[in-house]
Formats: sequence, C-alpha cells, structure tokens
Amino acid sequence: MVELKNLLMELEEGILTITINRPKVLNALNTETLNEIRTAIKEARESDAVKVVIITGAGEKSFVAGADIAQMRDLEVLEGRTMTMLGQDVFSEIENLDKPVIAAVNGYALGGGCEMAMACDIRIASKNAKFGQPEVNLGIIPGFGGTQRLPRLIGKGRAKYYIFTSEMITAQEAYNFGLADKVVDPEELMVKVKEAAKALMAKAPVAIMMAKRAINNGIDMDLDSGIAYEAEAYTTTFASQDRVEGMNAFVEKRKANFQGK
Ligand code: CAA
Repeated sequence: MVELKNLLMELEEGILTITINRPKVLNALNTETLNEIRTAIKEARESDAVKVVIITGAGEKSFVAGADIAQMRDLEVLEGRTMTMLGQDVFSEIENLDKPVIAAVNGYALGGGCEMAMACDIRIASKNAKFGQPEVNLGIIPGFGGTQRLPRLIGKGRAKYYIFTSEMITAQEAYNFGLADKVVDPEELMVKVKEAAKALMAKAPVAIMMAKRAINNGIDMDLDSGIAYEAEAYTTTFASQDRVEGMNAFVEKRKANFQGK
C-alpha cells in the first residue's frame, strides 16, 4: 500500500478502507487530499487484491465537512475552477471504478463530503450523520458534482430545497429520501459496513461490475437506449467464467466459487 499524508489505507481480506485523515479540520478536502484520493482509487483499480472499497472519515465527528474553505478562500478565479474540476474528476473516478465503493458516513457529510458520498455506490450512515450542501452560505454553489448527483438521488425539488436553504439532512431523512441506503448505530457502523462489503465480495465480480456500468450509464439515457445498453452488459456477463460457475453451482446445489473472470 502506498503511504499518503492525508489518508489512511488499510487492505484486509480484499477490502480496502480509505480513511480521510484530517480530523482537526473535520477531514476537509484540500487539493493535496483530493490528489491522494485519486492515487488511492488508482491503486484500488490496479490491484487484484482489492475487491471492495470503503471510504470513511477519521474521528467520531465527521465523514468530510467539505472542500477546504481556508484553502479555497485564497484561490484566484481560475484556480477555483481548477480545484472544482479536480474534485469532479476524482469523484467521477470513484463513481466509475469497476469495483463497489461503500461510503461509511460517520458524521458530517457536507459540501464536498456529501458529494464524495454520492459518488460512492452505497451509503451506510451512522445515526449521527448529517448530510448537506451548504455552499450558498459561502457565496458559491456545490462544485464537486452536487448540483447533478443530489437531484438524481433525491429529486429535483428536494435538491433545490436543500441546496438553496443549506439545511442539514439527518441520517433518517437521508434514508427516507434515498440518500442513505442504511442507517445504523454509530458504534456499529464499521462492523455493518464490513459485513456489507463481505456480502458483495461473495457475488460474481464481473456481474457487479456490469450492473454498476449499466446503472451508471443507463440512468442518463432514454429508456430504450438504457435497455439496449443493459442487453450488451448482460451479454458480457454471459461470456464470463463467473456465469458458468454461478449456474453450475446452482444446478449442483453448491456454493459458487467466483474468480472474477
Ligand atoms: N474547511 C476547512 N476547515 C474546516 C471545514 C472546511 N470545510 N469544516 C470545518 N473546518 C475546521 C474549522 O475551521 C475548525 O478549525 P479550527 O479548530 O482551527 O477553528 C475545525 O474544523 C472544527 O470545526 P468547527 O469548530 O466549526 O466545528 P463545529 O462542531 O462547531 O461545526 C460544522 C461543525 C457545522 C461542520 C462546521 O465546521 C462547518 O460549518 N463547516 C463547514 C461546512 C461547509 O460549509 N462545507 C462546504 C465547504 S465548500 C465545498 O465543499 C465546495 C464544493 O462543493 C466544492
């Protein structure tokens, strides 16, 4: 595992846990941290040992409290644009990783933190998590994908309400809106997230990869194009050894042993 200044990286039994580790500033994302997240995702992409990724924040209080406001304050206009595009690119890399990514939301997920959680495939939140896009308080708008991913997840009207008002969204509300997929007690968060990661690891990796691609790409298409895309993704799974193994295992009444091929 690479050593990174602002991240903790732990690889255990196929699960790579990336912990944003700037607790003194509630894990705010400066450009250095964003670049390190890019490095970590590259490692996850390239390493066969990594099957599932978990992203969380250090400390009890915060997942990520947003982009680093102290750094942003001093940026020139075009430097601000560069930082936004960096965050957007890194979060798209998370979204497009061919392995499942789970956000373990352990407190504040604000601004860039909410945006990072939304780029993950699944969000499991502790009961004390608080989501939100409070950028208009700072005279800016969400710039790491929030104006696009939030309405796709919770609907256009609600996204406008929460972006315009900056009101925080509790874990239970996030669950009700489809922004969090599960809410658990804070002390159980990592146990539950690791259970979820292990459950995903037992499935056929090629099938998970193609389901992720079909959902991510299809959601922005018209229905007929999305359905056509699904047929091609399905056909790819049909060509996999995992498909042969999965169907043989079912017929032979045994547990499948998937190889991700
Ligand atoms: N950037 C930089 N530093 C931050 C930060 C951020 N986003 N969020 C918190 N911190 C720092 C604080 O400045 C403080 O540092 P000091 O101890 O040196 O004063 C430390 O973290 C602890 O924070 P607070 O004392 O404020 O803690 P609190 O419990 O009173 O409040 C909070 C917690 C409500 C999350 C509050 O810190 C807060 O409102 N943070 C900012 C949230 C925000 O506006 N996020 C959006 C950022 S913009 C963005 O993300 C743009 C984008 O889309 C690209």
